[in-house]
This record gives sequence, structure tokens and C-alpha cells, in this order.
Amino acid sequence: MDFKKELEKLLLKHVTPEHIHIEIPSNLQFGDYAFPCFSLAKELKKPPNQIAQELFSKIKNPSFLEEVKATGPYLNFFIKKDVFSKEVIGEILKKRSAYGSSLVGKGKTAVIDMSSPNIAKPFGIGHLRSTVIGNSIAQLLSFSGYKVIKVNYLGDWGTQFGKLIVAYRRWGSEKELQKSPIKHLYDLYVRFHKEAEKDEAFEKEARGWFKKLEENDAEAMRLWSMFRECSLKDFEKIYKRLGVTFDVVSGESKYNKEVDRVLLLMKDKGVLEESEEALIVNLDTYSLPAALIQKSDGTKLYLTRDIAAALERKNKYKADLLLYEVGSEQKLHFEQLRAVLKALGFSWAESIIHIHHGLYSFAEGKISTRKGNVIFVEDILDKAVALVHALIKEKNPGLAKKEKVAEIVGTSAVIFHDLINDRAKDIVFDWKKMLDFEGETGPYVQYAYVRICSILKKAKIRPKSPDYGLLKENQEQELIKKISLFPSVVSDAARQYKPHIIAKYVVDVAQSFSRFYENCQCISNDRKLTEARIALVIVTKQVIGNSLWLLGIKILEEM
Ligand code: ARG
Repeated sequence: MDFKKELEKLLLKHVTPEHIHIEIPSNLQFGDYAFPCFSLAKELKKPPNQIAQELFSKIKNPSFLEEVKATGPYLNFFIKKDVFSKEVIGEILKKRSAYGSSLVGKGKTAVIDMSSPNIAKPFGIGHLRSTVIGNSIAQLLSFSGYKVIKVNYLGDWGTQFGKLIVAYRRWGSEKELQKSPIKHLYDLYVRFHKEAEKDEAFEKEARGWFKKLEENDAEAMRLWSMFRECSLKDFEKIYKRLGVTFDVVSGESKYNKEVDRVLLLMKDKGVLEESEEALIVNLDTYSLPAALIQKSDGTKLYLTRDIAAALERKNKYKADLLLYEVGSEQKLHFEQLRAVLKALGFSWAESIIHIHHGLYSFAEGKISTRKGNVIFVEDILDKAVALVHALIKEKNPGLAKKEKVAEIVGTSAVIFHDLINDRAKDIVFDWKKMLDFEGETGPYVQYAYVRICSILKKAKIRPKSPDYGLLKENQEQELIKKISLFPSVVSDAARQYKPHIIAKYVVDVAQSFSRFYENCQCISNDRKLTEARIALVIVTKQVIGNSLWLLGIKILEEM
């Protein structure tokens, strides 16, 4: 039974449909559902309190309602506890891993650009954000019925490759490159800039090599593809640890070959203008600075390649949503991308959404490497895993497979720490907050899950037809209420592209569970009560599991 729908039907007897918006009050005291009378008040030109009173006297309670109250401008509905419990728990037991899913995106395709690190520059913390937030959004959308295509759009073209080639030919080592590509290439990159400061010849040589690359010179191409392949292998290691996969790995280099077609299209539509030998698209109508499409020396730009890539995503994948999980510093870039496509007459440009994330700052600067201010994601993951490993040795020395558990808990802690913060805001990276087993952390939630597993193991019984009317304690009711909210929480998070809504929610469920567990003895001699409580434990496990899946976090049965 969908209580919300039932209540809407009930109200429909007295209210016109456009005024019916049923809310879920955050405080149990105001019932399970509430109907605010404000919008009706405007139409009827009566105070909302009076309307609430009048409706109250008209409504006849259907059998699933315990009580209706008129509180100020609201009507509050209280569902009979046993009916509510039975509905919620029954539904979760029926739907299991599909509980919370929906079909809002059915028949639609979303392409999400995520991670998208640069070759030759480190896989930094910003790319970590894009990877884990993007991954969670992809899960949320596919859970909401969309077909999702995850694209890793590598920064594998640009003048930096000329610099790298120069540096590699001077100081590079193939052995080092194979051993730790990202770090070696970054070292070379840093060294190039140091030397170039002292001697202008370096920049000139680098421009020369980039030009060769654009002309497909064999040696330039050989080095370029070696850098790309090695780096990709290194990135793969990080993705594996984070549990993230992609449907398409492409990159700027691919679209660099297509930019000429884009330029033709632009000329055709008459949007391209010459300005000091460069080519631009004027975006005055959109109140944006002009988009630079081709520099005076003939080179194309990041934006030009993104235009080509967006056209492909629209045409090849028939994308209904073109999502880009990228740092907020690229706001202007994506506004220009959208505006240029609009100027070209593509109304679908509206479906380009920049899902932006804020910056990380560091409370303690210690983990930065010798190489300057860059913080490598690998180092962060390693440190988190080492800290967890030490904790396990101290708290649970008998645990089997300590390394494996530490790897999962450590990486999950990093992921969760990122996801629990509203992506739009900047975050302070804080080891203590991240690994606190009592706080709003990955380890806390994973631990709740592990505890549930052990209760279920101990209980040994499987509830057949539990009497949910026995779940009368406040903590039981609070927990049932929380897990009943999961579908609406998922829909909020998906609509706003905000995984932190799920992360906060799952912490909340874990906390409710722990209050329930402390106050209500799960396994007792009262067989009927044990059955009902175990059913509640089973569905809580399901909701925590589904939430963690949406966050891209692995679950553990023991830790
Ligand atoms: N490689 C870029 C960077 O690290 C991010 C690419 C984002 N995706 C895109 N289609 N522009 O800054």
C-alpha cells in the first residue's frame, strides 16, 4: 500500500488536485504524513489554520489511519503502527536490492564525464573527487532507471606533451617510467618548469615537439603513446582500489582529430569570427566572454575538443543528459560549452550539466610529497589503509585476512569522507574525522553492517510470518520510519546529483539501528518478538547495503 497515494485519494474528495502536496514531517510528533494548507489558503482566501480545521471535520478516517490532527496550518496523519511496520518491512523484504529504485529515468540515457585525469600531471585530489562523486551519481541514476554511460575523458593532448617529450629525452628513464609512471612523469614535468625558468630555449623546443606531435611525427607519437599507456595502467590501479569502472575511456586526443569538422560546422552556421588572427565565437547574447576556438598559431583548445566530444555524445549515445563531474573552477568553461552549442542552434545544449565540486584544503600539510604541494591519491589511500591496519591489530588481533579488510575499510573511509560533504562546498581534509569509528564515517557504517551480520548469524532463525504489531518501542518505530524514507532520499539525491544526501542518511540509519540495538533485546526467549525484531534487522541490513552500493562502497561481513 502506498500511503501517500491513499492520502492523496482521500484529500481529493475535498481539495482540487493541484493543491495536494503531501509532505513527510521530520518530527514523528507531527505524524507520518502532513498536508500543508497554505496554497489552498491563497485560493480560498481563508486562513490556512481554518482550512485545516474544516478539512479535519470533513475527513473520515480510513482503516489504515490511527489518527488525524489539525495542527495550525497542517493536517497531520498518523498511520496505524502495525499497518505501517508491516507495509514497510514487507516491501523491503519483497524488493530487496531493488528497494529504493525507481523508473523515473526509464528510456533515457545519461552520459557522465567523470574522473578525467591528465596524463603527465598527477592524479590529484580533485580527480579523486570527480571519480567517487561521479561514480556515485552514476549508481544513483541507474538505480533511477536511466541507462548510464560513464566516460573517462583523459587529458591526453595539449602543449604539456611537448614539454614532457623534451624532459623525457633529457632526463627520463624507461625503467622509472614503467615502475611508477605518474610520479616519474610528474617529476619530469616539474623539472622541465624549473629549467625553463632559467633557459628560454626549453619552451621553444617544447613548442617544436608539440608541433611535431600535431603533425603525427613518428618519434613524437611513440613517446606520447608510451606516456599515455603507462599512465593509464597506473590510473587503473587507483580505479581498482576505488572499485570504479568506466564504459568508455576516451580523451582529448581523439577529439583533436575531429575539431576541423567542428570548425567547418561553425563556419557553416556563421558563428565563427576572426579576431587578431584567432578564431572565436562571440557569446555576448549569453553574457559570457567570447569562446576562443583556435589560437592565432593554429592550435585548437580544450574547449574546441569538448565541443567535438559533446556532439559525439549526443549523436552516438543519444544522450538525454550530458553530465560533467568537474571542479567548480571550470564553471566558465562549461557555460561557454553550453552557449557555443546553443549558438550553433542545438537546443539539447540545455541538457549539459556541470556537476561541480569544491576544493580540498588540508588541515595538516604533512602528507604532501617531496615534489612540492601535490598530494598523490595513492599516498592518501596508502596512509588510510596503514592507519586502519594498525587499528585492527590493536582492537581485533584475531581477525583473519587483516590486510584485505584494512584495504577495504581504509579506501572506503577516504571515499566516504569525500561523499558525506556536500560536493558543491569546499572540504577540509581531516584524517581524524575520516577514520573515527564513532563519527559520521565509512568505518562507522561498515561496522554497523558487520554487527548486523553477526546478530543474524547468532539468531539462526528466519522469520516466516512475523507479527509486526509487536514492534512497539520508540526505537523500533523510529528505525522503521527511517528506513521507510529511503526511496524518497534516493530520489532527492538523484535529482540534485548529490551523494552526500545518501551518505548522511545511511549514518542516520546506522545511528538509529544502534539505539534500537541498545534498547531492544533482539534475541530472547520470546520467539514471536525475536522473529519480528530479526525481520527488522534484516531489512535494516538491506537498506544500509543498498545505500553503500549507491555510494560505491564495498560491504564487509567481518572486520
Ligand atoms: N582533464 C580535465 C582536468 O583535469 C578535466 C576534464 C573534464 N571533462 C571535460 N570534458 N572537460 O582539468
